[in-house]
Amino acid sequence: MRIIVGMTGASGAIFGVDFLRRCPGEKFLILTKWGRYVLKEETGLTEHVKKSFADEDLAAPFSSGSNPFDALVILPCSISTMAKIACGLGDTLLTRAAQVALKERRRLIICLRETPLSAISLEQAHRLSLAGAIVMPISPPFYHRPQTIEGMVAQFNDKVLGLLGFETTLAWKPEALE
Ligand SMILES: Cc1cc2nc3c(=O)[nH]c(=O)nc-3n(C[C@H](O)[C@H](O)[C@H](O)COP(=O)(O)O)c2cc1C
Repeated sequence: MRIIVGMTGASGAIFGVDFLRRCPGEKFLILTKWGRYVLKEETGLTEHVKKSFADEDLAAPFSSGSNPFDALVILPCSISTMAKIACGLGDTLLTRAAQVALKERRRLIICLRETPLSAISLEQAHRLSLAGAIVMPISPPFYHRPQTIEGMVAQFNDKVLGLLGFETTLAWKPEALE
């Protein structure tokens, strides 16, 4: 599976780093300018990607729909990036790749990190959902009783991995189905 991971300037870089580390397949990273800043503030960088592209590089392969990918996961996604995508803007590599995902009907997962959400953001999230994107606020589950921040991060990311079709251990009482 070929997956593009976008990381923006929203808080929660730890989610993106854990996802990159654990998601199987071929991964390509697009880091926005503010994504780079927050990543540096909150974590260290990671070497789990095949290649990474500057968000300013609109000549990169994923600007074009003719280069296939299976999914674009934006984790964490800022309100600013979501707003641009919802308006149809594609003036950066990440927003352009999102445009491509929507027009080519490829999977687009937007993991929003903001709270509370304004009426404008809720409207934009709704619009994107209607256009086929999956909008999932970073909201970790607690039913497996995570004991650490890393555990909380992993449990949210398990949910994203599950949406991509990867097996996870996140099921709620699977033994009750036996
Ligand atoms: C330390 C820090 C934390 C931020 N946290 C958030 C956040 O959680 N959510 C958000 O939408 N924006 C957040 N911002 C603001 C975004 O970085 C800003 O809107 C930026 O323009 C987003 O650009 P990008 O989406 O291209 O990365 C934060 C900024 C900084 C400096």
